[in-house]
Parts: sequence; structure tokens; C-alpha cells
Amino acid sequence: MARQPPLATESVIGEGDIAHAQEAAWIEVIRKMEEVYSDLIQYEIELEEKNTALEEAQRFITSVLSSVSDILVVCDPKGRIQQVNLAFLRLTDMAEIDLVGRPLADFLAEDVGTLCHWLEAGQGGDREVRFVHGGNGATDPVALTCATLLDHRGLPAGTVLTGRPVGELRRAYEALKQAQAQLVQQEKMASLGRLIAGVAHELNNPISFIVGNVHVLTKYRERLEAYLGAIHHGVSEPEREVLRRTLRIDALIADLPALIAGTQEGAQRVADIVKSLKRLSFSHGAAAEAVNLSEIAENAVHWVVKGRNLPDLPRLDLPDVLLAKGQAGQLHQVLVNLVENALDAVDGRAQGVSLLGHRDGDSVVLDVRDDGPGIAPQNLGKVFEPFFTTKPVGQGTGLGLWISYGIARDHGGELLASNRPEGGACLRLRLPAG
Ligand SMILES: Nc1ncnc2c1ncn2[C@@H]1O[C@H](COP(=O)(O)OP(=O)(O)OP(=O)(O)O)[C@@H](O)[C@H]1O
Ligand SMILES: [Mg+2]
Repeated sequence: MARQPPLATESVIGEGDIAHAQEAAWIEVIRKMEEVYSDLIQYEIELEEKNTALEEAQRFITSVLSSVSDILVVCDPKGRIQQVNLAFLRLTDMAEIDLVGRPLADFLAEDVGTLCHWLEAGQGGDREVRFVHGGNGATDPVALTCATLLDHRGLPAGTVLTGRPVGELRRAYEALKQAQAQLVQQEKMASLGRLIAGVAHELNNPISFIVGNVHVLTKYRERLEAYLGAIHHGVSEPEREVLRRTLRIDALIADLPALIAGTQEGAQRVADIVKSLKRLSFSHGAAAEAVNLSEIAENAVHWVVKGRNLPDLPRLDLPDVLLAKGQAGQLHQVLVNLVENALDAVDGRAQGVSLLGHRDGDSVVLDVRDDGPGIAPQNLGKVFEPFFTTKPVGQGTGLGLWISYGIARDHGGELLASNRPEGGACLRLRLPAG
């Protein structure tokens, strides 16, 4: 059946619908545009905020980089400067514009080859270099550390160099070294002064004794001369007897042996002191070398035992080879002193003394032990002082341990005195291993 043409009323409703639909579409478009516009504004605000934060971060990083006192240089993979900090500009007295984009090698005062290779190889580590200063002259040396700069993918993108000028530090170190050397020298002079004062004091006693005795002997000689002169001139016996009484010749003769013995003792004391002083070794010329401490100790023991005519030897518990760094002559002297002391402490009973040696890390240790009375606790701190002795006159000057201590210290080692829990003393010599 054929479709009837629409009625007039039907066609009016249809047009109105279309117009309505078009209007709705427009409204939708405008709404969308407004939405997009508002999104855009929102994005712009966010972008501005991010930009401000970025600028803030940039300012912060720049101010941090400017305030660090270490220098900082960033180079591209070809060694061209990309960025430097204020410390570097101050060090080199140059402007950033003159540096950026130019090869770092152009600003090195020396060692160019090495540093370039180092940079190219992208190796980490330290180098000491000098930069040119304002185009002429060179800066103080700088201890430079090199690290690889990585991009966001973790691939090498250049080099970061950080460094610290060490000139100031080095000058301070030199001054310190000088001051230390001066102190050591002063300490040596002071210790020499103490020694001389000690020697003077020690010598004074026997010498004044000798002088006094010689004075008395001179008077005696005058009286004897007068007495013998009269006899030689043939005085009568009564006159001689008078003279004998008035010149007190009998008392004089009785006094002579004591006077002579006293003088001899004084002279012996002076001789002892001089002999001890001879043990002082001021020779620091010989270089330290690897020496077998066991062998030196054995020799020293034999030396002392022979010198004292002892029937036995001390007990030796030493490895065949115990290498120490030092001067054999001086170490022999130390060991002789220690063995002498140990034997003194046990009244020459060699079996009461033992020597033990071993290696301990990068040093060697040698103990001289005895089973004598030990060192009185109040004397433990004094035994290394010059002229400290508890031995009677003629048996000790108190220099042995003082000399030995100095030798151990000069060798970079130490000498320690202690008492053993089981009784007796232990003197421990520690030296750098050879
Ligand atoms: N093994 C030891 N046991 C007990 N006391 C000791 C021992 N070694 C040292 N001493 C004490 O330390 C003092 C100082 O010793 P040091 O070797 O310096 O001098 P000295 O033996 O008295 O005289 P010198 O060695 O000059 O002949 C000794 O007089 C003694 O009192
Ligand atoms: Mg001694």
C-alpha cells in the first residue's frame, strides 16, 4: 500500500524537532569547549606551579653549589666543560663564559697528558693537578676526584670532577712537621740537659771525695817530708821522738790505707760512670736493615755469660729466625743490658733467666724474664730514668735501661717493664718486623 503524503500539521512538528536537536548539539559543543578551556587553564596553573618549583629547586642547587668550598667541574664525554661552580671560578679567577664549552685540558697548568687519559678512560680515583690562574701562572695544587656522569638511562654522559685545593693544607702540614721536628730537637736537648745534670751530680760526689782525700794526703806528705828530712839530717833519737809525736806520724800512717782506699773507690766510681756513658750511642748514621733478633740475643747472652764466667746459660726459647728492622750493634747493646739486669736480679743464677721471642703481626717481641724479686711497684715508672739504680756503688750507674729505652724508641719500637704474676720481672722489647 502506498504511503500517504504527511499532513501539514505533521510536517511542522518535524522541523521543530530538527531545530531543537541542532540547538542541543551546539550547547553540547559549547559545554565541551568550556570544559577544555577550563582544563587548559588548570594545566596552565599546574605548569606554572611546577615551573616555580623547578626554578626554586634550580636556585637551591645553584646556591648549594656556590656555597661549597670544593671545586666542581662537569665535562661532556669529550672533556669539554659544561658547568663549573663558584669555587672553581674563584680558584682560577676566570669567568664562567670563558670556560663553558672549552676543553678542560686548556685550563690545566701541567700533567695534561695524564689527566686527559684519565678523563677519557672515565676512571674514578684521585689526581693532583694545577689549573691555570687567570690565564697566567698556576693555582695551588688541587686534589681532584673524577667520577662518571650518568644520563637518565644510566649511560655515561660525561665526567664530574670535584677537588679541594691542598696548598694551604700542605703549608700547614709542613709548618706542623717543622714544629714537630723542633719539639723533638728541644726534647733531645732537654734530655741531654737532664743527662748532663745527672752526670754532673753523679760525678760530683766521688770527685769531691777524691779532692778532699788528696788535700789530706798533701798535708800528710808535708809532715812526712819534715819528719824524714830531720832523720836524713841525723837528728838525735829524743828529738826524732818529739817530732814523731808532734807531727802525729803514727796516726798519719794508720790513716793512709783508708785514705788511699777511699780515693781509689772514688776514682773507680768515676771510671764506672765514664764507662757507662761510653755505652751511649749517638751514631744514628747506620741505616736500619733486617736483622735476626734471635741471633743477636744469643750472642748477647754468650757475651754476658762469658764475661761473668757463669757455668750455665739462660734458657733460650727463640725461633731460628726472628727478623727485626734495626741496627745490630745497638740491639746487641740493649740485649746485653737486659740480660745483665736479669742476671743481677737472680744473683747470677743463669737458669733463673729466660729469653722468649716471637713474631706478633708486623712487629717482633722479645721477652727477657727472670724469677728474681721483680721490680718494686713504686719503681716501675722510674726504671727508665737516667741514673735510677737500686744497685750499690760500683755495680750500677742506672743508665742501662735509659739507653736501651732510647734505642728501642729510635727503632720505632718500645721497651716495657712489668712484673710477672708468677714472680720476677719481664722486660719486653718490641720492634718493627724486618
Ligand atoms: N730484671 C730486673 N729485676 C728487678 N729490677 C730490675 C730489673 N731490671 C732493672 N731493674 C731495676 O731497674 C734499675 C735500673 O736498671 P738499669 O739497667 O737502668 O741500671 P742498673 O742496672 O742499676 O745500672 P747499669 O745498667 O747502668 O749498670 C735497676 O737498678 C733495678 O732496680
Ligand atoms: Mg743495668
